[in-house]
Order: sequence, then structure tokens, then C-alpha cells
Amino acid sequence: MSDSITLRPGITWVGFVDWNVRDFHGYTTDRGATYNAYLVQDERTALIDTVKAPFAEHLLRNLAAQVDPATVAYVVCNHAEPDHSSALPAVMKALPQAEVVCNAKCRAALGEYFDTRDWRFKVIQSGESLSLGRRTLTFVDTPMVHWPESMVTYVPEEKLLFSMDAFGQHYSSAARFDEARIYYANIVTPYGTRVVKTLEALAGLPLEMVAPSHGIIWRSHLGEIVKAYRNWSVCKPKAKVVVMYDSMWGSTGLMAQAIYEGAARPGVEAKIIGLRQSNLTRLATEMLDCAAVAFGSATLNQDMMPMAAAAVNYIGGLRFTGRDAFAFGSYGWGKGGAEKLDEALKAMKWEVMREPIKSKFRPDAACLAECREAGRALAERAQARAAAAGYEKLLID
Ligand code: FEO
Repeated sequence: MSDSITLRPGITWVGFVDWNVRDFHGYTTDRGATYNAYLVQDERTALIDTVKAPFAEHLLRNLAAQVDPATVAYVVCNHAEPDHSSALPAVMKALPQAEVVCNAKCRAALGEYFDTRDWRFKVIQSGESLSLGRRTLTFVDTPMVHWPESMVTYVPEEKLLFSMDAFGQHYSSAARFDEARIYYANIVTPYGTRVVKTLEALAGLPLEMVAPSHGIIWRSHLGEIVKAYRNWSVCKPKAKVVVMYDSMWGSTGLMAQAIYEGAARPGVEAKIIGLRQSNLTRLATEMLDCAAVAFGSATLNQDMMPMAAAAVNYIGGLRFTGRDAFAFGSYGWGKGGAEKLDEALKAMKWEVMREPIKSKFRPDAACLAECREAGRALAERAQARAAAAGYEKLLID
């Protein structure tokens, strides 16, 4: 049975909806994911990308419902990451006439992943076009969005962009802007400067439809998602404070609450996040547009708590830039949690605005007053940072 979807006459989605995937290389996919592949039927037919290996048969069933597999001329590989390429061995066996169309870096990467000795390749360069007959495929390299070999494919006759990972979302629903933000924060953030270049490269293309490799196809709100990508590519902050913490017996939690109370004021979005009650994916998403962070941990074995360490590792790797921050936390007989967090914030090159706030066992009234005052200062910094960045409210806020 086929679940193909027609985008335009002769252009069909033939991918796979992975309802059950909950972990995408560490990114929590609460609502599953899709691997989008598209078929462009013309005088010569092209398959744009494939799916994850276990779903190759599903893709081939969808494809065979549209066209005789023996007539497919091209398989465009925009990106060698296995969520889009690992079905290629099965697909190339099933499409005897097809050539793989990709750039030289992708050709090399595919050769390192798969036995490609029997595959025929058409290696193209950025800006090159391939005529299918009535339609044309134009290829534009988008290095590091998401891998070095990544590219997008544009169909000028349809004003249609197959945008690969860019503009994608893990899952598909009315909440797609929110999902696009989560996707960006967890997958694309480290490559912001490349996103800026990609947006510049795509700026002149008339667009009516953007078909990413994950999630829903953009037919409306194209301007909004591009504006959002501009903001996200520079981690543009709004007046938002995030207080995140991991507590052992509640003391660090009391400090977090006092900091949050100090930060909460009209014009500032303040949030408090218990690390063990949340997950790294949601946390990273909050980091994408916040201006200021208070990060707390109790002390365990002269170090921060394990979930705080995981958060440092994950957030540090995503390289959110330009945030004000400070550390806080409780300790018993040996210090370590807040101090280690303080070092981690400095290593992330965030602007550490003060010494860590520490409490021996339960925070007393003076400590909580200090927390409230630090929260107020954090909110002021957040407002100043957002104003300096010229944050503009978007539809998706
Ligand atoms: Fe969806 Fe970078 O792969």
C-alpha cells in the first residue's frame, strides 16, 4: 500500500513517516520524524533523496505506485547523512537505470559509507543544472547545513526548493513552527554562519514551496520561516531568562526559585527548568532565543550533578553564543558543583556576570535575597541584550 502525497502534478512525496522514533542521535523526538523523499516525473524521472535503510522497501513501494522503477533516471543525493542515504544500496539495486546525482564531497562520503562500486554517478558542481525535460533541477551547495557535502535542489519552473535539512522539523503538525525551532536548536545551531551564507545563496530564488527532508512542506509562511532562520542563525536573543538547575535535597531548587522570582517582571519572559524534569532537547530549544541564564547544581562528589554535566556537554556542543550567565548551587562538606558550573560557563564563552552563588546546605534568608537580586540583574541584562540585538517579534514567538 502506498501513502504517497502529490505536491504538484508529477511531483510526489514518497518518503516514510517514522511515528515511533523517539531518539534522533540524542535529540528527543517526542512526535516522531519523517524522512522525506520526492519523485519528480518528467521526460526523465528523478528521485530526490531516500530514507533510512529499514524503510527502503516502503520508499520503493511508494515509488513503484507512481512509476516503473526501471525508468527512473536519477537519484539526487543532497546529503550523505544516513537518515537520507542509507536506503541507497537497496534503492540502487531496484532502479537499474538510475545514476546518483551529487557533488564530489557527497560522492566521496557515500563511498566511505557504502559499497558504491556498482553505482553510476553524475557528479555535479554548485550552480549546475540538469534538465529533466519540462523541468530543471538546479543544485546549490550549502556546506555545513548540515554536513560539509550538503546541497539543496531547486526546480525553477515550479518555484520549488528541496531544502534538505534546512527548514525541517522532526514531525509534522499544526505546531510546525515550534518543531522547526526545536529542530534548528538541536541540529543546526553550531552552523549559524553557514546558515547565513545559505540564506544569502537562496535569497534570489523565487519560492512558492519549500520541501525539506524532515517534516511538513512549507507552502505558506515562507517569509516567516526564513526570518526565523535569520534570527536563529545568529542566536538572536529576546528578553528571556532561563533558570535551570539540578538539586539533590531541594536547596539548589530553593535558590533557583528565588532567582526566578527576581527575574520575573513585565517585559521579560522568565522560565525555570528542573533538569531532571525536562530533557536536553527542550533545554537546547530554550537556549536558542534566551539572553541570560542562571545555571545551578548541587554538589555531588565534589562536582556538579550528572544531569547538569550532561546539559553542559550538550549545550556547550551546540555553541549558543552571546548569553549572560552565572552559576549557583548548594554544597555540604565539599564544594564543587557551582564552581565547576562556573568554569563550564566560562568555557562556553558566555559572559559570566558574577561569582557563583553558593549555599551550605539550606539557603538562608540572606542567600535567597542574594539570589533574588541576582535574578533582577539577570533580567536587566536580558532586556539590554535583546534591545541591542534588535529582537523583532515573529509569528512563531
Ligand atoms: Fe536529516 Fe543531517 O540529516
